[in-house]
Amino acid sequence: MISKDTIQQIQSRIDIVDIIGSFVKLKRRGANYLGLCPFHNEKGPSFTVSGAKEIYKCFGCGKSGNTISFLMEHEKYTYAETLRWLANKYNIEIEETEVSPEAKFYQQSADSLYVINNFGQKFFTEALFDTEEGQDVALSYLKERGFREEIIKKFQLGYNPAAGEAFSKAAILAQYNAELLQKSGLVVMRDDRLKDNYRERIIFPIHNQSGKVLGFGARLIKKNDKAPKYINTPENEIYVKSKVLYGSYFARMAIDKADECLLVEGYTDVVSLHQAGVENVVASGGTSLTIDQLRLVKKYTNNLTIIYDGDGAGIKAAVRGMDLALEEGLNVRLVLIPDNEDPDSYVNKIGASAFIQFVENNKKDFVIFQLGLSLHEAGNDSAKKSAIVNKIAETISKITKAEHFTKRQDYVKQVAEMLKIEEAGLNNLVNKFIREKVQKAENSGQFATGNEKLLEAGKEEGEENLVDILFNKDENQERAIVRSLLEFGMKKWDENNTIADYIFKEMDANDLESMIENKNLITIINLYKTWYKEGKNPTDKDFLYYEDAKLNNLVINLMDSQTEISVKWVEKFEARVSSREDLFREEVISTLGYFKLRKLKKLITQNQLEMEKSTNETDQFLFVKIHIALKAEEQALTDKMGTVIFK
Ligand code: GTP
Ligand code: MN
Repeated sequence: MISKDTIQQIQSRIDIVDIIGSFVKLKRRGANYLGLCPFHNEKGPSFTVSGAKEIYKCFGCGKSGNTISFLMEHEKYTYAETLRWLANKYNIEIEETEVSPEAKFYQQSADSLYVINNFGQKFFTEALFDTEEGQDVALSYLKERGFREEIIKKFQLGYNPAAGEAFSKAAILAQYNAELLQKSGLVVMRDDRLKDNYRERIIFPIHNQSGKVLGFGARLIKKNDKAPKYINTPENEIYVKSKVLYGSYFARMAIDKADECLLVEGYTDVVSLHQAGVENVVASGGTSLTIDQLRLVKKYTNNLTIIYDGDGAGIKAAVRGMDLALEEGLNVRLVLIPDNEDPDSYVNKIGASAFIQFVENNKKDFVIFQLGLSLHEAGNDSAKKSAIVNKIAETISKITKAEHFTKRQDYVKQVAEMLKIEEAGLNNLVNKFIREKVQKAENSGQFATGNEKLLEAGKEEGEENLVDILFNKDENQERAIVRSLLEFGMKKWDENNTIADYIFKEMDANDLESMIENKNLITIINLYKTWYKEGKNPTDKDFLYYEDAKLNNLVINLMDSQTEISVKWVEKFEARVSSREDLFREEVISTLGYFKLRKLKKLITQNQLEMEKSTNETDQFLFVKIHIALKAEEQALTDKMGTVIFK
């Protein structure tokens, strides 16, 4: 873990305009900076960065955040990676807390492997471009295949000379550790000597999300039946095959912009498509997609388009990963390349624009495609057909996320039509699969795929979810309390109390916490309380850099909506009020009042229910008295608040 001290140092150095400015062209506009939003396609600039508030906000797509969330979103770094990146930028030494010796050793090996890979990549690129052998054997081969220098350089392709020890010798001379060199897969020990593992092969470096080389793919130049066409880096501290998608570093912006990720099988497919101007493309290496790879895609988009040869082997591998993809909520489509071509050879054959057109015209929904294929195979065999109904219902049942509810219904409709069965029947079957899964998850004590997860998943900040839609709860009011706390908490309420004191007292006295449904808001209130009790003066900034992206974003959105609110306030109190500053008392009273009101209404309803149930007169009389008292309190409260404010 990175120490608090380090984090604080980093925070104090952050200059949001400078950092975002290195990714987005920004122009000064008044107190703010303005640019084209990097998160969606736009012609006019609506992306605003405020240096003073340390936040950015796009008025086009609504994305907003702080420096750290910008880097996390734009570069897809984790929180820790973001801090490391910033520390590196500002030359701040990172102080780690609680690092076990094993963890330290692991981290050191990982760091060394990156260094070795970087050395390897440079060596191979030099061998490709700057040696006679490289030019004659490898560069000419690549050029013959249609790769231009520009793209070869961009992907940092290289060549490992045929001599067999060229790289090994250079690496030993550079004093790299023999054990780590073997771990990197670049060299192997043979007859007590280190030998090049990739000799006489074209080298494809594989980059991580921030462009560092994780490992390599190495392709034979000359056909050789005895050796595999490709060799890959063995699994080590940094190369974990199941988490890697080749090309993701070069594709990430394009995927974001196009809101679509194209998936192909091979390295050469990726490079060729890039050269043709299709940049939102990654390769799986021909195996079925893993959950980690799918999540990598999902960081950027929900739309996955698989472009494979029509021959079938690759498709079969891909199909295996598809139920997982649906579970992750991806829209999967499929394009088959005809005539035994692969995307690389096909784009070279028909040209870039025809290829793009072809992909556009031949996208098929994956579920529907799969169904068509099996129906075709089944012919008139009714046993096979009912197996298909079951299989497809199970596939559809994988779409469990609340926000994909309509998608599931669309499938049910389409599939019922294709199968010529009743929609309601198919729906039942799908639901049965969902129930079974929930049951299973409950029995095994984990809710990973059950309904709780489904409900929870929808509750993340910014996501619309079924629960909210069903119950239409008024979160704005919940947010208003926290906003008041963050904005005015340290102001004076009276002689002895701050606003924060007042809010906490009122909340405790009326048990208002139980009226707040958004758990993240409660977390913020409690964190505030803790910090305040520790003698700090908490502000919204403390949350902007708190180690929980959910809270960062929530607070940003909270503070962001204040202008909107204050306009309303100014309208209401036009005569009396000159600035928002004068309003904070009213605002605090009103926000707390709203909750008290809600609480009262709840008590009134409960009391009424009890009253209806009760049979003896004494009880009923008591309930009536309570009712009158509660109503009076409600009246007093609404009078105090001014009923106009909250409907
Ligand atoms: P070219 O033949 O140079 O166009 O490469 P390709 O990418 O078209 O190769 P192919 O269609 O044969 O294979 C697709 C992908 O599967 C490759 O890019 C590799 O990632 C992987 N692959 C192919 N052959 C091998 C192999 O022998 N070993 C391993 N580990 N992977 C392979
Ligand atoms: Mn190929």
